[in-house]
Amino acid sequence: MRKENLGKNLSQTKSSVRLNVESDKNELYEELYKIALKNMDNAYAKYSGFRVSAALLDEDGNVFNGVNVENSSYGATICAERVAISTAVTDGSRKFIAIAVASSDGEVWPCGICRQVIFEFSENLDVISMDSDGKMKVLKISELLKNGFKLKD
Ligand code: THU
Repeated sequence: MRKENLGKNLSQTKSSVRLNVESDKNELYEELYKIALKNMDNAYAKYSGFRVSAALLDEDGNVFNGVNVENSSYGATICAERVAISTAVTDGSRKFIAIAVASSDGEVWPCGICRQVIFEFSENLDVISMDSDGKMKVLKISELLKNGFKLKD
């Protein structure tokens, strides 16, 4: 393939989102949660009917989305949080500040496998959820996964 032809047929399909990480933490996290809520319609929860959406914020303010993607072979289902992490890593991002998780059933916290996957990349990350009264809750991944397992860097 000739180098000068690369990109000739490319165009951007969807714009990505960036937040200002310098802004007030409460505001920042509320906005992140809103992004998760907004994207929940994309969840593919055909079997459980439980839609989950995650919005992951990296150190530079980039936001990566994830939704749960279920499968006829139930065990092949992947959670919203791990989709978001995989998308970010694929895009070259590995240092995360926070992840907001929303569900069609309100307050939700990452499952055990997702806690482990989040912990792999950011031991100090904030996990954001919202209770039924619309009160935002923030917990550190290290609280959700106490004495988490990680091989030395
Ligand atoms: N699910 C998530 O996406 N994230 C979680 O942290 C909890 C569970 C999904 C997986 C499955 O599609 C549905 O919720 C019910 O388990």
